[in-house]
Amino acid sequence: MQNLYVSNRGKEVEPSPIRKLVPFADEAKRKGIKVYHINIGQPDIPTPPFILDAMRNFSNPVLPYGPSQGILELREAIANYFGRYEIDIHPDEIFITSGGSEAIFFTFLTIMDEGDEVLIPEPYYTNYNGFANMAGVNISAIPTSAEDGFHLPEKEVIEKLITKRTKAILICSPNNPTGVIYTKEEYEMVKEIAEKYNLYIVSDEVYREFIFNGESPYSVLKLDTNPERLIVIDSISKRFSACGARIGFIATKNKNILQNVLKYGQARLCPPTVEQFGAIEGYRRLDEFLPSMIKEYKNRRDAAFSVIEKHEDIFALKPQGAFYAVLKLPLKDADHFAKWMLSDFSLDGKTVMVAPAKPFYKSPHKGKDEIRIAYVLESHLMKEAIEILIEGIKEYKNKGFS
Ligand SMILES: Cc1ncc(COP(=O)(O)O)c(C=O)c1O
Repeated sequence: MQNLYVSNRGKEVEPSPIRKLVPFADEAKRKGIKVYHINIGQPDIPTPPFILDAMRNFSNPVLPYGPSQGILELREAIANYFGRYEIDIHPDEIFITSGGSEAIFFTFLTIMDEGDEVLIPEPYYTNYNGFANMAGVNISAIPTSAEDGFHLPEKEVIEKLITKRTKAILICSPNNPTGVIYTKEEYEMVKEIAEKYNLYIVSDEVYREFIFNGESPYSVLKLDTNPERLIVIDSISKRFSACGARIGFIATKNKNILQNVLKYGQARLCPPTVEQFGAIEGYRRLDEFLPSMIKEYKNRRDAAFSVIEKHEDIFALKPQGAFYAVLKLPLKDADHFAKWMLSDFSLDGKTVMVAPAKPFYKSPHKGKDEIRIAYVLESHLMKEAIEILIEGIKEYKNKGFS
């Protein structure tokens, strides 16, 4: 048989590291082991019923293509939602995408040529790597560390990373995977750097309201700078607990960007039609579910950390937002450990699936002994999952793995 060609571009794209261990989890389940999934940001909180109803009640005889930039009513609902944060954005400045993922990918394709660079504080949401690969652009990692609370380093450290090819700085706050929330001073520093070197500020705000330290939700759209510099990435996946709806958006006042993003929109003609009606309902009735959802995540975080904090050999910062945490484990190879937990370990017929943190780093020597957990299970299950994880670490070490 002749081998058929597969593009080098495709080969260079890494498979999703968050899903890489799925076959091991499937095998564990086949053996009858219950696997707690704290590896992926898939919440178990029910999607508000009125969002599902709005989709069920879609009664058009034909399921049509919608506008490439998304249904006007949804863009109006989103513009109105930004009003609660005193942000003035017009429905025409919002472009609905198939999830925040597409919003990031289209943004990369729009603001950078092949070989250009985007600065991102590491550790960062690992899927940015895939989007950068696909767009042929390079990520330049801004170092942050647990010791500094994953906050941004001094301005000079960031400035040193800037080259002639740097086009943008991408920040994500509240952050996946660290849970850090940037301070107003950090936003100001990012703004100053962007102005000095004429960079875009791409701000991934999909966890905007997921804040547990009493701060108010924030958006870069509030920064006092040339608004054309600012691009917000957003999504309903987490805010509405509706990851499968595949609805996200780009918000920017930059007309050039919007015009060019529209061209990439041809890749999917339009975002999902029925789900946009669900999203409209979600934005209209946000206050009916979001505050209780945030409280629930805070409780889950507290449950997880009530166990983690008892174990001094695990180094972890209690996250201030989003629903993830990076845990430094007392072992050398978290990738091997995560596989072992699925293939060789169970406690009373149960085990946990975690995400090794290495793929969240660009620097090759970082993150090897770290995992990322997502606190997406009910509090008592979250506690149990962490207890199983800790027993797993003990047995892993007893078996002679370092
Ligand atoms: C920081 C961040 N940005 C973007 C996304 C993409 O979300 P979606 O494509 O489901 O809207 C995620 C998903 O986990 C995320 O954590």
